Amino acid sequence: MVAFDSRQFGGAIAAMLALILLIRVTYVAVEEPRNLTRPAYILKGIVIDHPAGGAPLPPEPLPHWASALPAANLKAGQRLSQQCVGCHDLSTARKNQIGPALFGILGRPRASVSNFAYSGALRRNHDPWTLDELFEFLRNPQLYAPGTSMGFAGFQAAQQRIDLIAYLRVTADDVKH
Ligand code: HEC
Repeated sequence: MVAFDSRQFGGAIAAMLALILLIRVTYVAVEEPRNLTRPAYILKGIVIDHPAGGAPLPPEPLPHWASALPAANLKAGQRLSQQCVGCHDLSTARKNQIGPALFGILGRPRASVSNFAYSGALRRNHDPWTLDELFEFLRNPQLYAPGTSMGFAGFQAAQQRIDLIAYLRVTADDVKH
């Protein structure tokens, strides 16, 4: 028979607690959901009534562009545009990358770069990209155009979208004039 003295026994319990803690910490690190835009799990037999891309967003007023544009922070817009350039060329070179060339996007008909393979979600119509449409699209591309191949979560803050759109517009205007 094996006899434990109380110190060995205490050590074993401490080791077990440490192990449980480690498993728990690892579990939390792996499983803790962060700002999910889609349901994280699907329960068999239960239909989750979400549009593609997640829960509907609360309605928001459209900006009053005549005052929002002159007040926009173009420096902030330029900084935010850094999040686009991994996929989009914003310059006059108009090169397609993962996404279509974006130079002069304001007023340009949607999905109209001829040598870019758009998703059906974006090709559904060719209305021009207005300030309002861009503002809505960039809030959550997946909700705006379910099924779009643009893998970008969007900007929640209206001011960020205003600053970014103002930047995209002004840089294009500067070059055109
Ligand atoms: C991970 C890559 C990726 C990032 C990051 C990204 N986009 Fe896109 N974008 C795409 C793809 C791909 C498409 C084409 C989508 C489709 O066909 O459904 C697209 C399409 C677009 C369109 C429509 C263009 C057209 O010709 O109609 C706009 C506008 C746009 N992106 C703006 C932006 C802006 C502004 C940012 C930065 C905030 C951004 N995107 C970030 C990949 C990206």
